[in-house]
Amino acid sequence: MSIITTVTRMWLTRSTKPFLFVNDYDNKLQYVKTNNLGLYIHIPFCKTICSFCPYCKVEYREELAEKYVNALIKEINLVCDSKERKEITSLYFGGGTPALLIDKLDEIITVIKKYFIISEGIGIELHPNNVSIETLKKLKQLGITKISIGIQSFQDKFLHILGREKTDYSNMFKALERVSFETVSMDFIFALPGQTFELIKRDIDIAFQNGANHIAIYPFIDFSFTESTLKKMSNKEKRKLLDDITNYCVDKGYIRDSIWTFAKNSNKKYSSMTRDNFLGFGCSATTLLDKQFKINTFSIEDYIKRVDNRKIPTSLTLRFTKNQRMIYYLFWTAYTTRVNLAEFEKFFNIKLKTQYGFEIWLMKILKLIKERDGYLEMTLKGAFYYHYYENYYTLAYIDKMWSVMRKEAFPKELIL
Ligand SMILES: C[S@@+](CC[C@H](N)C(=O)[O-])C[C@H]1O[C@@H](n2cnc3c(N)ncnc32)[C@H](O)[C@@H]1O
Ligand code: SF4
Repeated sequence: MSIITTVTRMWLTRSTKPFLFVNDYDNKLQYVKTNNLGLYIHIPFCKTICSFCPYCKVEYREELAEKYVNALIKEINLVCDSKERKEITSLYFGGGTPALLIDKLDEIITVIKKYFIISEGIGIELHPNNVSIETLKKLKQLGITKISIGIQSFQDKFLHILGREKTDYSNMFKALERVSFETVSMDFIFALPGQTFELIKRDIDIAFQNGANHIAIYPFIDFSFTESTLKKMSNKEKRKLLDDITNYCVDKGYIRDSIWTFAKNSNKKYSSMTRDNFLGFGCSATTLLDKQFKINTFSIEDYIKRVDNRKIPTSLTLRFTKNQRMIYYLFWTAYTTRVNLAEFEKFFNIKLKTQYGFEIWLMKILKLIKERDGYLEMTLKGAFYYHYYENYYTLAYIDKMWSVMRKEAFPKELIL
């Protein structure tokens, strides 16, 4: 399987050099001159742990959570430069279940604002059980503009398959009616055993009729280290589902703003992950800058120890070659289903067509992309193959990296 990602990597980076992640780090990160920078903060606590979930998280314990927040604030103070407040796009709290620390978020946001001016709002991931009028009001007071709720499915049968409790969503819908946000996104998982398009369509309609103006429908990914025993759907069935979902949403007038996400209207920015550059704080958080990608330790205890010693908690760093940075850029930008030719040139000082003229020509011939108004846009077929490739990428790179990092706080190196 990883042969596909290896060959693609060699072809596109024009080199046999693998992605080499090493156990060294810069105690000061060069982010100040970076354009289009976003921030991510990871909160690794959940009330109960879902068997299918690959993210870095533990069961909530008040004492540990308190120590964690103190460490998080220390990490922000270590990394950030206080000379001048830098304008950033957005701040996003992911997890885990960040709302478990709702009374601590103010403290964290205040420290962030010491260093940054947030221009496009603050987002947070929520578990459906978090969505009460009281919690939403608190989040709004904190300046949060985007909420993303992990529904997974509105149907008991699929919640059961995923090991989640039966949920009464009526209070959640009432709360969403009472307290509004610029973006209300709902997450779903598709390609679960026995899931048909009719059933997914029902979930999409329920979401848009009950407060969502954005939805994310992720394909189920079977990570090697999770305890999920779910039977995988065939690729043929998955493709049919993805095409049916896309056609349904497009016919309804929703806008596909990334491979698996759809928005009710086009005038807002929804995504948390498609920034050119981002700084990540907290255990397991990643940072992407012009010249490096780095990932923090997955161990909460080691994370706390490390920042207590005034060292930033980076576990592995990848220092990019220029071509590696280009394919990183293209891979993540392509997730939005389009690449802006002028922005690529501004970022790398070279035209995309000069760098990858043959590949662009080939993809046009294969009807995977088309060019319009200065953008290369994916066709429906192109989006399917990206989705398909992303699955390989997740299993060949992310699964491998996270498997190692869950076992060892600071591995010596990792070659991908
Ligand atoms: C960190 S979780 C969301 C927030 C919240 N903790 C919750 O579960 O409601 C982010 C999202 O990733 C998706 N996800 C988690 N595990 C997945 C898997 N194995 N395959 C596909 N999507 C997954 C789910 O849709 C989930 O809502
Ligand atoms: S899916 Fe959400 S609630 Fe479940 S373990 Fe993962 S982060 Fe926690």
